[in-house]
Amino acid sequence: MSLNLDVIRQQFPSLNRNAIFFDNPGGTQIAKQSIDRITKYLIENNANHGGAFATSMASDEVLHEAHNAMADFYNAPSADEIVFGNNMTTLTLHISRSLSREWNEGDEIVLTRLDHDANVTPWVLAAQDKGVKINWVDFDVEDGTLNLDAMQKALERKPKLVAVGYASNSLGTLNPVEKIIQMAHDAGSLVYVDAVQYAVHGAIDVQKLNADFLVSSSYKY
Ligand SMILES: Cc1ncc(COP(=O)(O)O)c(C=O)c1O
Repeated sequence: MSLNLDVIRQQFPSLNRNAIFFDNPGGTQIAKQSIDRITKYLIENNANHGGAFATSMASDEVLHEAHNAMADFYNAPSADEIVFGNNMTTLTLHISRSLSREWNEGDEIVLTRLDHDANVTPWVLAAQDKGVKINWVDFDVEDGTLNLDAMQKALERKPKLVAVGYASNSLGTLNPVEKIIQMAHDAGSLVYVDAVQYAVHGAIDVQKLNADFLVSSSYKY
């Protein structure tokens, strides 16, 4: 099936500017339908959440619809598994703080040299605070692929967490995340997948992937 790019481009008012956009993170260009829906929400529904009054209930309903839509987008088992945040980096900082509460001195985690800083620094800071060792997985500079042997070796040490990117922002490498998740789960580790650069290009099925956490910029699981 081929996409009608003219029709798709027309949905994004910001593309009328004389600029070229190559990026997919929090600053991603927004479709007219989304801009209209946000504006409509701010005009008609803006209210505190969880209140027993009409505007609050109307606001909650919009939020509920948004969670359902995202669950659909990721094929998540339930809308309750969707969390919205400011952007991927902020969410990762939050989640790293929560997860690292369960870490103890001497524990280990696995990070990769192929990942964007947003999926590195939050974990490095949490590891420093908890006295947790980081095992780094490198990549092949010739073809940009992750060294899965090094990943397997790091997993033998039963790390608490593996943070890995779905698609590299710098090289475009598509990592075999389904396989990495399986390997990590076999070692008893949680997996945190950065899908910022993938979510806008390919369909994601979090149930098939079996990811523990998957984050992207406009959509979070
Ligand atoms: C692969 C990757 N992960 C994470 C981020 C950070 O995304 P955000 O702007 O939503 O914090 C970026 C931003 O460019 C990215 O390319």
